[in-house]
Amino acid sequence: MLGAPGVGKGTQAELLNRRMRACHLSTGDVFRAAGRRPDCNQSPAMKEALGYMRRGELVPDSTVWEMVRERSSCLHCRGGFILDGFPRTLRQAESLRELMDHEALQLTAVVNYTLPFSEIVERLGGRRTCDQCKAVYHVTERPPKVEGKCDHCGGRLLLREDDRPESIKVRLEAYERSTAPLIEFYKDLGLLIEVAAKGSPDDIFESTFTLLEARRVREVARKVFVAQEDRQ
Ligand code: AP5
Repeated sequence: MLGAPGVGKGTQAELLNRRMRACHLSTGDVFRAAGRRPDCNQSPAMKEALGYMRRGELVPDSTVWEMVRERSSCLHCRGGFILDGFPRTLRQAESLRELMDHEALQLTAVVNYTLPFSEIVERLGGRRTCDQCKAVYHVTERPPKVEGKCDHCGGRLLLREDDRPESIKVRLEAYERSTAPLIEFYKDLGLLIEVAAKGSPDDIFESTFTLLEARRVREVARKVFVAQEDRQ
């Protein structure tokens, strides 16, 4: 999944996951989970990574890559896999391509979610995350039943550290500089699907799923055609 911070990638990954039973690998979630470990259980590289994250900067490619490789079994999940927040630089995309070639796998599609920056800033500023189960809400768009309390576990709803205005600015700049070039990269590989991230999460999910299904059917048809050609 591609798209600026706050465009709704995590929300869509959760919905897709429910339908497809795929493995969801979010590099941001992995870093946040590492940040909750006791200090003595954090490697120096992880401590450094958490500092980058708090400021809204990208974590160095080498640290991200190490973490992704540790989880490469996700790529063989029966329901497939969803990469959310990775790759985020051209170098990460190249490393992913090498790993997938090595594992004899291919990406089915790269979904790029788009939304004007003003609406993205509004989504990030209004996001609240449960301090227990990590469920995501929005103060006006996806409010909890009881203000400040998680519907699922009753945990407290907090503003993410990197959703403060000064970090949001840095994150959007990092996106423009390092991640946006991936749109052309995946377009050139014929993998890009563009989805406008406007409307309700359910509507956006239906558009995404329809486009993914169409691509999957085309891919199956292509493979059948190639197999028939080979037999003749
Ligand atoms: P990460 O956790 O990946 O953050 P992000 O990309 O900035 O994305 P977000 O989680 O902020 O937003 P989202 O698009 O998932 O939106 P969401 O669904 O929550 O990364 C965090 C940090 O980790 C990075 O800054 C970096 O430091 C580091 N990092 C991670 N991966 C890295 C990598 N590969 N390389 C280097 N560094 C890396 O939605 C946002 C809000 O909008 C929510 O409140 C939601 O309820 C609401 N919302 C969602 N959809 C809708 C809708 N349709 N209508 C109205 N509201 C909506």
